[in-house]
Amino acid sequence: MHYFEYRGGELHCEQVPLQRIADEVGTPAYIYSEQTLQRHVRVFDEAFQGVPHLICYAVKANSNINILRRFAEWGTGFDIVSGGELFRVLRAGGSPEKVIFSGVGKTADEIRYALDSGILFFNVESGAELDLIQDIARQAKKRVRVSIRANPDVDAKTHPYISTGKQQNKFGVSLPEARALYRSLRQSSNLDVIGVSCHIGSQITEMGPFEEALESIRNFVLELKSEGLGLKYLDFGGGLGIPYNAEEPPSPATYGAAVACKTKDLGLTIILEPGRVIAGNAGILLTRVLLKKNQGDKKFVVVDAAMNDLIRPALYGSHHQLWSIRPQSQKETADVVGPVCESADFIARDREVPMLQAGDLLAVMSAGAYGFSLSSNYNSRPRAAEVLVSGESYRLIRHRETYEDLVRLEE
Ligand code: LLP
Repeated sequence: MHYFEYRGGELHCEQVPLQRIADEVGTPAYIYSEQTLQRHVRVFDEAFQGVPHLICYAVKANSNINILRRFAEWGTGFDIVSGGELFRVLRAGGSPEKVIFSGVGKTADEIRYALDSGILFFNVESGAELDLIQDIARQAKKRVRVSIRANPDVDAKTHPYISTGKQQNKFGVSLPEARALYRSLRQSSNLDVIGVSCHIGSQITEMGPFEEALESIRNFVLELKSEGLGLKYLDFGGGLGIPYNAEEPPSPATYGAAVACKTKDLGLTIILEPGRVIAGNAGILLTRVLLKKNQGDKKFVVVDAAMNDLIRPALYGSHHQLWSIRPQSQKETADVVGPVCESADFIARDREVPMLQAGDLLAVMSAGAYGFSLSSNYNSRPRAAEVLVSGESYRLIRHRETYEDLVRLEE
C-alpha cells in the first residue's frame, strides 16, 4: 500500500505531481511519501496490539535524518548497527532508551559511545564481543544491558546475501554457544542480561521461516527461564518482505498474530526491527531518459540514475517496477541502464517497459528502503537529491551533492 498513483493522467506522490518535483529538484531524485511511512508504522504497530512491544525501526533501510525525525515523533525506537547510525538517531531527536545496537563487529569506540548515550541494550553477536563490552563497562564503571543474538539455523528462503539465520552466516551465536554464554553471565557483576534476540534475514515472503525461528527461540527462552534467568525482552528482528512485483508476503497482521501467538505467555516485551516493510514502498527513484540506443536486436534505454544510486538490481538481481509519468499503453522490451561503466549497471534487463523518449521521466518503484542508504559516489557521480512529500507540499530533505562535495575530504 502506498500513495504513488495516477491522478488526472499524471503520476503523483500524494497530491504532488512528480513532474513538478523533477522540474524543480532535477533527477535522479529519491521521493518519499510521508503518509505512506506513517501508515506503515501504524499498521505494523497495530499488528502487535495484543502484546507489550517496542518497534525499533532498522535505520539502515533509510537513514535520512528528516525521516528518522518523523519516526521519533511517531514514537518508534531504532535498531542501529554503527556509531554513525546512533549519531543520526540522536541528532534526529530519537530517545536513546529506545535504541538497540546490533551488528557482528562493533568497535570499542562505538560501544563506548552507545554506553555513554544510554541505549536500551546491545545485541551481542559473539563471545569475543561480550568480553569487550564487559571490559569497557568495567572501565567506565557502568552497568550494561545486553541481549544475545541467537542464530537458530533456519533457512529464511530469501536471497543468500540477505539470509542471516543459518549456521554458515556470520550473524549471531549458535544456540548451544548462546546457552553457554547465558550460563556464564549469571555471575557477571556489571552486565544485565535482559533479552534474547534473533533476526533470520530480509525480504522474507512466507511465514514458514518465521514460524520455525519463533518455535526455536520460544523453546530457548523457556529453557533459560527455567534456569532462573530474569529476561525482559524478546527481540524478533525484522525481515518481513514487501511486494516488489508478484510477491505476496504475509501481511503485518498475519506476521504479528504469529509472533503474538508464540510469545504472549512468556511475559516479555517483544521488540521488532522492521526496515523494508516500513520504508520500501514509501519511496521511488525518479530518473530521466538520457537517450535510447540499439545493439543488434537489443534495445537500451539509458537513464540518468545508475548503480551508484540504486545498487539492488546489480547486487541481488532485484526487480523494481518501472512506471512512466503518464500511463503509456505502448510498450517495448529493453534494458534500462545507467551511465556507469559496468555491465552490472542496470535497473531492469529484458523488461517490457513503457515506450519512452529522451527527456521522459521514469519512476523506479519500491526504492524507499536500501536505495539511497546503499548509494555511493562511484564514477564520481554526486549522490541524488532526496525529497519528502507530505500532502500538497514537499521538502528537499537532502541536497543533490555537488562536484565540490565529491572532493571536500580529499584536500
Ligand atoms: N535487524 C537486523 C539485525 C538486520 O540486519 C536487518 C537488515 C533488519 C533488522 C531489517 O530488516 P528488514 O526488515 O529491512 O528486512 N540491502 C538489502 C537488505 C539488507 C538487510 C540487512 N539487515 C536489500 O537491499 O535487500
